[in-house]
Amino acid sequence: MSDDSGCRRAGATPSAAAGSGVPADGATGPLRLRRPRPEDLEALAALEARSYPPDEAAPREVLADRIARAPACFLLAEGEDGALLGFVCGTRSAAPTLTHASMREHDPAGASLCIHSVVVDPAHRRRGLGRRLVAAYLERVGRDLSGVERVLLICKQHLVGFYEQNGFRLVGPSSVVHGRDPWFEMRRPLCPAGEGPRPPTAPRQA
Ligand SMILES: CC(C)(COP(=O)(O)OP(=O)(O)OC[C@H]1O[C@@H](n2cnc3c(N)ncnc32)[C@H](O)[C@@H]1OP(=O)(O)O)[C@@H](O)C(=O)NCCC(=O)NCCS
Repeated sequence: MSDDSGCRRAGATPSAAAGSGVPADGATGPLRLRRPRPEDLEALAALEARSYPPDEAAPREVLADRIARAPACFLLAEGEDGALLGFVCGTRSAAPTLTHASMREHDPAGASLCIHSVVVDPAHRRRGLGRRLVAAYLERVGRDLSGVERVLLICKQHLVGFYEQNGFRLVGPSSVVHGRDPWFEMRRPLCPAGEGPRPPTAPRQA
């Protein structure tokens, strides 16, 4: 990809070990990844409701809409027994920054991929699954979606480091009001498979 893409080649992405067939859950079993099906809605909605406060969780019908309209922006991980371990979902937007409207819209040609939920089953947290899931998601969308230039999300302050581990950089406080806490916007170029985001360049000395 060209220099102004924000991407660089040669093993820069941490996602290489995140695809199918690598240890999931930090240590055990293969990580099985797939797009959601309509029959996954109950389990997805239940995990979303367990993972976010009521005023932040996406309602069932919003998740159903994302499954139906933006399945290529949705990835779930399941255990060998088929139980849901976690998921990432998003939609595309033409806006260059994440707005409240992006949570309800999907523009199939939008150059921004806005991530709305990153969720790991509470019983499987802090074992590296979330980081692997985000890495696998970035790898998949980089492979499957054309015309996406950047990935955007908003997160709470304590998770800035979690996303930085997958190549996102902090843009600053978000204008989005959603629930009670302030949100911070994170951004990352979407790089093709085999490429990762370039590290930030140091300001030039005068
Ligand atoms: C956020 C979430 C997806 C992380 O999943 P996870 O599998 O526990 O994350 P990982 O084990 O891959 O974490 C990797 C690293 O990210 C950071 N991290 C993860 N969760 C963190 C937290 N709650 N607070 C601070 N840092 C965190 C840590 O540096 C962690 O490494 P460590 O465990 O060695 O300290 C999970 O806690 C979750 O589902 N939370 C509820 C939903 C939510 O808030 N999603 C994010 C919306 S923006």
